[in-house]
Amino acid sequence: MPTAPSARRPADPLDLLQLYRRVRADTARLAAPLSDADATVQSMPDASPAKWHLAHTTWFFETMVAVPNSPRYRLFDDRYGFLFNSYYETVGARQPRPLRGMLTRPTLEEVAAYRSHVDSAVETLLESGPSAEVLDLVELGCHHEQQHQELLLTDILHLFAQNPLRPAYRPAEPADATQEAAAEPARFHTFGGGIVEIGHGGDGFAFDCEGPRHRTLIEPYALADRLVTNGEWIAFLQDGGYRDPLLWLSEGWAKVQADGWRAPLYWEERDGEYWTMTLRGMQPVDRKAPVVHVSYFEADAFAHWAGARLPGEAEWEHAATSPAGRGLRQLSGDAWQWTRSAFAPYPRFAPSPGAVGEYNGKFMCGQFVLRGGSCATPDGHSRASYRNFFPPSARWQFSGLRLARDA
Ligand SMILES: [Fe+2]
Repeated sequence: MPTAPSARRPADPLDLLQLYRRVRADTARLAAPLSDADATVQSMPDASPAKWHLAHTTWFFETMVAVPNSPRYRLFDDRYGFLFNSYYETVGARQPRPLRGMLTRPTLEEVAAYRSHVDSAVETLLESGPSAEVLDLVELGCHHEQQHQELLLTDILHLFAQNPLRPAYRPAEPADATQEAAAEPARFHTFGGGIVEIGHGGDGFAFDCEGPRHRTLIEPYALADRLVTNGEWIAFLQDGGYRDPLLWLSEGWAKVQADGWRAPLYWEERDGEYWTMTLRGMQPVDRKAPVVHVSYFEADAFAHWAGARLPGEAEWEHAATSPAGRGLRQLSGDAWQWTRSAFAPYPRFAPSPGAVGEYNGKFMCGQFVLRGGSCATPDGHSRASYRNFFPPSARWQFSGLRLARDA
């Protein structure tokens, strides 16, 4: 939900129509390389089939926008609410999440027809001078769909990584000739402490959990000017990083033992070299590139090993928005950056009334905040106040880290 729907200017209906069409077309384009089989299989309970993402984002517009606001709207199929509701208790019962891969029907083609049906209704509504409340819901639906665009990619990558053929979702690019060189050493930028303001307070769209803007106290700190690289991660694992319990949180060490973690997710050792599964198939690990597919537990252990720590989310946001932070690279577009901040409500946060109030607020337990944005995040989707969140053991997102220190 927008931070304060009543307090900010609603989006222009024509701008929103354009955004709606662009987002919907982007999703269809992301799914275009997939067969019906690719789009149906679910590789683990945390990941959803691409077909489910295509239908669920459509169900969101149907349920939150078309049904309550278009009196003549006809449901495409009254059974789809059960299939494609994700977690909205106020809306009704649903297919259990771990069983989303059982939906061999409807077919991919039928889901495409469902998308067109709902598109017509939403576009007609946007052309008919809708209320500010409808505009806010369509805008929320567009940003919701962009979140699922990234999940569609991370879930396809996880699925394809389970296939011994290691299929490529996109054609491979020629290898970078400089990839064996080491990255420039990270430089730490120091920031003064004090009472700072963080959180979304502007006029544009933000999810409800990004606000309210508020004051918070931070001590002086330093942040690395770039993300931790694969080369640095190789040094960590070759130094026994995954074998030393003193580096790990207790719960993280238990995961290392139980799941046999020895490297980031998707890494494989072949003749002494590290390879990794990517959307372009198996590729040699690029030592200069930011490490991705590491959990909070791994990021935290690495930071201990490096004599540093993870940043707090207020430190990250303060640095990203202050003039002193101009020298920081890779703030967005490479990897989501784990912070040591639990995903919790900001002071004076209150979820919106109704079904959309279930969007973020009820997940504020047992998860950590990631800042920035990844290579799979749609352009323009993230912002400095954006709070992504995942459980500390999650590895299948494009999640990496930036080191911090006390100053
Ligand atoms: Fe969703």
